Amino acid sequence: MNQNLTIQQTNNKYVMHTYLPEILLTKGKGVFVWDDKGNKYLDFTSGIGVCNLGHCPATVSNAIAKQSETLVHVSNLFMNNQQPLLAKILIDNFGGGVAFFANSGAEANEGLIKLARKWGSDKGKYKIISMENSFHGRTLSTLSATGRDKYREGFAPDMPGFIHTPFNDFDAIEKAIDNETVAILIEPIQGEGGVIPADKDFLLKVRELCNEKDILLLFDEVQCGIGRTGVFYAHQNYGVIPDAMALAKGLGNGFPIGALLTTAKYANVLVPGTHASTFGGNPLACAAAIATTETILNDGVLENCQKLGDYFFSKLKEMQKEIPAIKEVRGKGLMIGIVLDKPLGDLLKLLQKEGLLALPAGETVLRLLPPLVITKEEADIGLNIILKILGEKNA
Ligand SMILES: Cc1ncc(COP(=O)(O)O)c(C=O)c1O
Repeated sequence: MNQNLTIQQTNNKYVMHTYLPEILLTKGKGVFVWDDKGNKYLDFTSGIGVCNLGHCPATVSNAIAKQSETLVHVSNLFMNNQQPLLAKILIDNFGGGVAFFANSGAEANEGLIKLARKWGSDKGKYKIISMENSFHGRTLSTLSATGRDKYREGFAPDMPGFIHTPFNDFDAIEKAIDNETVAILIEPIQGEGGVIPADKDFLLKVRELCNEKDILLLFDEVQCGIGRTGVFYAHQNYGVIPDAMALAKGLGNGFPIGALLTTAKYANVLVPGTHASTFGGNPLACAAAIATTETILNDGVLENCQKLGDYFFSKLKEMQKEIPAIKEVRGKGLMIGIVLDKPLGDLLKLLQKEGLLALPAGETVLRLLPPLVITKEEADIGLNIILKILGEKNA
């Protein structure tokens, strides 16, 4: 390696340009991260909804360290003593069923799609209805499920069998269903699409329709699951249980892991030889996820998320009165979208300069996904920066 190149130059030369990062982050603790120049940022991205317990929480770091000295990886041809324990935590909270472990959100959704197709294969059913404006991942089948053309452009042809209907529109789903429909795939709260919660009535009716027509209801909880909305699974906000669902992001607090859960009824659809993953559910990933989920479930994290979520919403609604550019504040728990009256433009950069990292969602939505362990004082730091920048930009 050329020793004279900086990390940035090395990145630009050797890393594929699918991202264009400008800031080099070198350290994280709690809700803060630091760059190579020593600048400190309040992190309202949590690595895009991943580090729900903040950066490097002792419980997760210690679990990773301990497991890394014991057993890092064995194939799923053998059992390891972490995977069943993680499956039990996830399934006990799901109300029964089984888990399959993957490495990412897209891979977990691939599992959902395969589960549905396999189940429908002897009935001649394979079509999946997913929502417009949705996001399900970057593999070819999850791109085909994704309901935004922007992501699919250049990768045609789509995988056959995906139909998109408007989000929260029950009649459209009812019309789109035919004898070949095998499943309906929904994010209970759309993340990338603009932080848009599903209507309760919509999900209840879709659940009923799926029961009636013998169609699988699939939830993509990759972004909204694992405590993000103040309950462990986002569907618990609605009292609607899917037949299967995908998890990833927050599951390992930064250690890559995804999961596919099914209810008991569909537990034996994917039989030996039909689905697999070399790394999925290895002991190191599962140890990280056990520490993460136990902390979220047992250490008051969900309660803090609800309390601070309410605080964010009340403060942002006050802000909306002062700043007409804020059209709406929406979301659930600490999954928050601030809908603006125009595209974000340089907003994220201006916030960064003031020491706040935030995210876009859609064209006009500023998305906040702070760690679920954030305090009121830390929230205020970020909210004051948002107030200042949005106020100045729209003065
Ligand atoms: C709802 C949802 N599904 C799937 C994915 C894809 O997850 P991954 O990037 O881990 O493949 C994402 C990522 O943003 C997501 O938000």
